[in-house]
Amino acid sequence: MTPPRHFIDLWKLDAADLKAMLTDARLRKAARKGWGQAKVDADAPADGRTLAMIYEKNSTRTRFSFDAAIRQLGGAGIISTAADMQLGRGEPIQDTAKVLSRMVDAVMIRANKHEDVELFAQASSVPVINGLTDRSHPCQILADLLTFEEHRGSVEGKTIAWIGDGNNVCASFIHASAKFGFKLNIACPPVYHPDLVDLARAAEQQGRVEMTDDPRAAVEGADCVITDTWVSMGDTDHEERLEAFEPFQVDERLMALADKAAVFMHCLPAHRGEEVVDEVMDGPQSLVWDEAENRIHAQKSVLAWCFGAELMK
Ligand code: CP
Ligand code: NVA
Repeated sequence: MTPPRHFIDLWKLDAADLKAMLTDARLRKAARKGWGQAKVDADAPADGRTLAMIYEKNSTRTRFSFDAAIRQLGGAGIISTAADMQLGRGEPIQDTAKVLSRMVDAVMIRANKHEDVELFAQASSVPVINGLTDRSHPCQILADLLTFEEHRGSVEGKTIAWIGDGNNVCASFIHASAKFGFKLNIACPPVYHPDLVDLARAAEQQGRVEMTDDPRAAVEGADCVITDTWVSMGDTDHEERLEAFEPFQVDERLMALADKAAVFMHCLPAHRGEEVVDEVMDGPQSLVWDEAENRIHAQKSVLAWCFGAELMK
């Protein structure tokens, strides 16, 4: 039996497959322009298939976009919080994976601990998709790159400036830098720097990642400025974080140092007045609403790839 196609971390995936997913997303989105949200794509690549979606943490975008995505692909979805499952009462994650493998065709899981997604995938005979963990958020970055390329063309050779926490979303940008050939400038307080293993791996894979604690140096000439909340789900050092990240706010003065055609992105939810000011969030360079919508389009292509369907070329 061929092993299931898991979508857990970008660094583990083939660059050609990732680029094929982005192409599929762009074409699939264009093909349904003007359609009602519930209309099924002509090729219905998930026809007859069911996706389970499990949430250990809160979600708006991931939750609604995966549910909309599986419907638009012609499949069905089942959503549950982990707390409502026996998982929440201590049933082993591997046993849960074995049971769900007999009932659904793929599983998307948002988990507190990255290791749990890995354990789930090892025990699962159907594809497993990472819907965010403490360590990464690969679906988000695929949507972000789709959005960037819609507005600024190929990301290859461009510069993305990441301003703020070096945790999960930043980690997936590090993973993506080698796969898509963009330069990543990361500005963060040293205490909240990215995982050193991620940085070392990016270097091995010819990723161009530069670290600084100066946001002005990071954004200079950048084609995209991107940030994330200063306090992620599960973080408890709220006060320390607000203090450490204060110099890392994305405001109009910082944006002015980037390339004139630079765009601003944020995975959302945003904490206006903290990591970003209203003038940037709602300003002419902001792509945040396209970025949120593109979660649906990018994830449809991830699902189609996981199911082994033919991607649009
Ligand atoms: N960006 C993102 O994953 O949003 P949610 O937490 O609302 O799913
Ligand atoms: N870094 C944030 C991303 C939310 C989509 C968090 O983990 O809470």
